[in-house]
Amino acid sequence: MTKPLRLGIAGLGTVGAGVVSIIRKQAALLEARTGRSIEISAVSARSRSKDRGVNLSSYAWEDDPVALASRDDVDVFVELMGGEDGPAKAATEAALALGKDVITANKAMLAMHGQSMALAAEEKGCALKYEAAVAGGIPVIKALGEGLAGNEITRVMGVMNGSCNYILTRMEDAGLPYADVFAEADGLGYLEADPQLDVGGIDAAHKLALLSSLAFGTQVNFAGIELEGIERVSIEDIHAAADMGYKIKLLGVAQMTGRGLEQRMQPCLVPDTSPLAQLTGGTNMIVLEGDAVGQIVLRGAGAGAGPTASAVLSDVCDIARGYRGPAFGQPAATLTEATPALSQRPAAYYLRMALTDKPGALAKVAAVLGDSGVSINRMRQYGHEDSTAPVLIVTHKTTRADIDHALAAFANTAVVAGDPVALRIEEV
Ligand code: NAP
Ligand code: HSE
Repeated sequence: MTKPLRLGIAGLGTVGAGVVSIIRKQAALLEARTGRSIEISAVSARSRSKDRGVNLSSYAWEDDPVALASRDDVDVFVELMGGEDGPAKAATEAALALGKDVITANKAMLAMHGQSMALAAEEKGCALKYEAAVAGGIPVIKALGEGLAGNEITRVMGVMNGSCNYILTRMEDAGLPYADVFAEADGLGYLEADPQLDVGGIDAAHKLALLSSLAFGTQVNFAGIELEGIERVSIEDIHAAADMGYKIKLLGVAQMTGRGLEQRMQPCLVPDTSPLAQLTGGTNMIVLEGDAVGQIVLRGAGAGAGPTASAVLSDVCDIARGYRGPAFGQPAATLTEATPALSQRPAAYYLRMALTDKPGALAKVAAVLGDSGVSINRMRQYGHEDSTAPVLIVTHKTTRADIDHALAAFANTAVVAGDPVALRIEEV
């Protein structure tokens, strides 16, 4: 008879308790699918007495996650504590050093230490799996690493942080300013303990770094991501973008270019007819493009106990079946160092500015754009009661450098009031 697969689970919060719950509820189904019984040997968390809504009485308890990872009756160490370093890293490294398979949902840790951990896993012939780390319940790691293995990936793109998408769509639907919706989301418990991880785009950028590595055969390079959060997205821009036929999303884009690896996580405009624009609330969407497959779109819950535990169980089943493929799609030693692209691919830009309402003001703005090499595609000026006129411009494709040149030059025209806004329009 095939031996049971014995798990040690460190972290019994939202995801950990979700995993225990599925393993208890679906024991027969998991055994039928993998040919092995999936068992939990031991668990760990900070508080032993906390009620987690699941029965833990039949599992051994360890206060120390490193001790849990080192137990003889643990075949697979399941890291669901979180944190870039600290106990998550220590216990994961301890498990890998002992040749134990590891499953983690911890994108922050992998974005920083993914390469060294993948090397350590391969040296010992064990697995490092992380389906739950990117886009919760969406099986995007499997899709990229396995389903699209025959493709040269041309672009990876997506909305990877549900909290930011919730905030942006709630601003849009309720017409509320960012600060009000941020406070509301925080009150509802939608944001990480450190909300900056969400609204600063860091959590989403961690995820993008992992997808880039898988897609382009490069070492994980979080530092190479051009990163901007949603804190400066105003309700005025959400309304104005809608008026021009766009939605604003915190969009992650990764693409290999002749100039190096372009990785961006920033608020962008997407056409309101695109699949990404249809995404409301806390849902995630990943768009994958390959030379053979064309474009595929994956959509689903990016967080929560059930969806995230579902992804962890996918990794558990892989290991139970004996599938331990390389963490980033090819042996870690063959992943190339990612050289960040020094400039972004050209794109159309959305510009919003307030112009002093006097003769020749618009002409001066048009001249600055022309002198900067930026061509206007569409323009709209709104009726107004005060002394400045709101103006929107959509440019033809141009470079960020040319846009920055124009933004700097606007300051010398004496007709542009305040700071103009410039947002990239991503073709989808
Ligand atoms: P959580 O609810 O805060 O739970 C964290 C768990 O880790 C808690 O049970 C905590 O113990 C335990 N823990 C923390 N420090 C520990 C230590 N030093 N020793 C032992 N246990 C420790 O977090 P979560 O939302 O489940 O997230 C877990 C991981 O999944 C993170 O990496 C997160 O980024 C990732 N993830 C989460 C989601 C989601 O929807 N929540 C989605 C995708 C990925 P106590 O309970 O005793 O405090
Ligand atoms: N804070 C994250 C989000 C949780 O909002 O998407 C899942 O990583």
